[in-house]
Amino acid sequence: MASEKQLVAVTCTAPVNIAVIKYWGKRDEDLILPINSSLSVTLHQDQLKTTTTAAISKDFTEDRIWLNGREEDVGQPRLQACLREIRRLARKRRSAGDEDPLPLSLSYKVHIASVNNFPTAAGLASSAAGYACLAYALARVYGVESDLSEVARRGSGSACRSLYGGFVEWQMGERADGKDSIARQVAPESHWPELRVLILVVSAEKKLMGSTAGMQTSVETSSLLRFRAESVVPARMAEMTRCVQERDFQGFGQLTMKDSNQFHATCLDTFPPISYLSDTSRRIVQLVHRFNAHHGQTKVAYTFDAGPNAVVFALDDTVPEFVAAVRQCFPPELNGDKFLKGLPVRPVPLSEELKAALDVDPTPGGVKYIIATQTGGTWASNPG
Ligand code: DP6
Repeated sequence: MASEKQLVAVTCTAPVNIAVIKYWGKRDEDLILPINSSLSVTLHQDQLKTTTTAAISKDFTEDRIWLNGREEDVGQPRLQACLREIRRLARKRRSAGDEDPLPLSLSYKVHIASVNNFPTAAGLASSAAGYACLAYALARVYGVESDLSEVARRGSGSACRSLYGGFVEWQMGERADGKDSIARQVAPESHWPELRVLILVVSAEKKLMGSTAGMQTSVETSSLLRFRAESVVPARMAEMTRCVQERDFQGFGQLTMKDSNQFHATCLDTFPPISYLSDTSRRIVQLVHRFNAHHGQTKVAYTFDAGPNAVVFALDDTVPEFVAAVRQCFPPELNGDKFLKGLPVRPVPLSEELKAALDVDPTPGGVKYIIATQTGGTWASNPG
């Protein structure tokens, strides 16, 4: 009998997302409300995902959390904010008299275990997938069915965009209580099947400053960031939405690169300045522009978050030649098969013309490896 159940456990997965119009800066640190809207591409879970199990039981004496097998401090404010918010939503649902799917007490403590299928050491942002997954798992275990934007957002701003597959916008909203600061799908993952995503994992050459602290300093000191949020991003959001809807790769790629560059310009405009790109990142930027110049059009586009790894977008028919160009510029230190992970990429020779156009001094090992992936969905559309 359900009422005799003493433990309920659920396991969920959630994807990573990469912003093509960047979120950088909060207007409310506590509620995690952004100073501008942002737009991202959800990546396929076959290559990058977080899996989280949440269990509640009357036998648990305290809330506990394990990340990649290691117990972490459950008292961290953001985790606490997520737990408070989900329990508030669950109470609200019960007091509204909705049928109770899980007849367990809301006062039961929760145990949470979360793992990534990609190496954390690769420096890939995992907080977005992590908090989106936590929001799902908690919602299911506590029987909450409402919009989870707020729960995920309270963990990490960008996490609310990992609640949907395909192309997702996080509308900044206007309200002081954040109720209208929510994620929304712009187009599903099936909308642009030719789109490919290559993650170029770069050896970290610098100690990084985390996004949270970095953006806080930017908000306090960068007038360029204010200009960006007020006068640049609104039109870019509209333009990026159009590019996605029309599958306009040229427009999508150019705007993606410009927005990444502007985000890193606001970091340099921050005082003291923040620098996330490494020499290898800048070589990748140059490689992409030379590759595009050789073809006379935008065939590939880069974007960088708060770290030196590049995420490169291309259509599927461009991928083999671009991967060959990356190998040419960054001769792998790993065996060929380990250098390329994820989706298979057909090996092709580089033409002499392209080799000449790239005109680079090879940097062996600059790119550690590449993860080839594509747009994907959420756990709901990819069960198991
Ligand atoms: C550069 O979402 O990690 O990746 O809200 O403080 O947790 P917090 O920051 P976070 O910031 C992400 C910044 C970014 C751009 C983006 O994903 O939009």
